[in-house]
Amino acid sequence: MSNKDNIKLAAKYIQEGKLVAFPTETVYGLGANALDPMAVAKIFEAKERPSFDPLIVHIGSLDQLKSLVREIDNRILKIANKFWPGPLTMVLPKSDIVPDLVTSGLNTVGIRMPGNEIALELIRTSDRPIAAPSANKFGRISPTTAAHVKKQLPDIDYILDGGKTTVGIESTIIRLTDKGFQILRNGIITREDLETILPFDGNTEIEKGSAPGMLKSHYSPRKKLLIANENISITDFSKSGLISFTGKLENGVDKVIRVSENDDLKDYAVNMFEAMHAFEDDTDIETIIAEPVEEKGIGIAIMDRLRKAEFDWRNQ
Ligand code: TXA
Ligand code: MG
Repeated sequence: MSNKDNIKLAAKYIQEGKLVAFPTETVYGLGANALDPMAVAKIFEAKERPSFDPLIVHIGSLDQLKSLVREIDNRILKIANKFWPGPLTMVLPKSDIVPDLVTSGLNTVGIRMPGNEIALELIRTSDRPIAAPSANKFGRISPTTAAHVKKQLPDIDYILDGGKTTVGIESTIIRLTDKGFQILRNGIITREDLETILPFDGNTEIEKGSAPGMLKSHYSPRKKLLIANENISITDFSKSGLISFTGKLENGVDKVIRVSENDDLKDYAVNMFEAMHAFEDDTDIETIIAEPVEEKGIGIAIMDRLRKAEFDWRNQ
């Protein structure tokens, strides 16, 4: 685990324009000084990420927010007060100091204050806002441990180890409209949570181009992954690994990873990427089967990740 000295060194690296992977409460991020285009360019290179997919900027204080956005209204402050530090990203009109590379040329920037002490300490010590996508190769499984980062990005300058992340899936991303908020990516902060502050204004009518990174295929293991359904008989697959939630599909499966002991969807979120990594690395497994959940509350975010992980494999 990282200590103060590790964080100090990592903060110095950030100031020098290097890449530092660090834990957040959601997944590990691959960070660089958000105000240094040369440093940000290294993120795209290391991840092999297309430049049309914008980055989230991580902040350690509301003062930092002020410098990055055009204006801060009451709604923004209300949401920030309720959900930050935490797994929520707000897409807001950007100020001129945010490099175009960070936002892929959009006039908005995604910002969040992460709810992880190491992340906050890194941002505050480096005294820079930190641009960071999830610390995986583009399109692959997101990392929830330092070892997952090392597996996909062995050559980056530094990895701060903060143990396993506590939320396990990426932040909810919203943007504000005249009517309220729209959801660009679902996470464990749900529509219902946000509705306690602002009215919901849909998540289907998103203008073309407003969420360029929301691709159909993502989080993809290097092995076939299928979501269990009526048409999939698990016993048809040899060398199958099941990501099990309720336990009811476990008969006849070669290996099982149970993501929750007591049917808690939060546990599914916390453990799902780790289970995918474990089966991806397991030479005894050829096919990964995932148990679906009802699309309600956090279940929406879980099914979103599973569908994207399945996408490339469904028709093979
Ligand atoms: O939990 C998280 O959000 C993690 C941790 C590291 O903070 N980060 C993360 O970053 O998931 P990434 O790059 O894997 O996903 C961020 C998504 C991108 O796909 C992008 O489409 C969207 O956020 N995004 C970023 N800036 C945006 C903007 N200005 N407008 C619309 N979407 C944006
Ligand atoms: Mg990602």
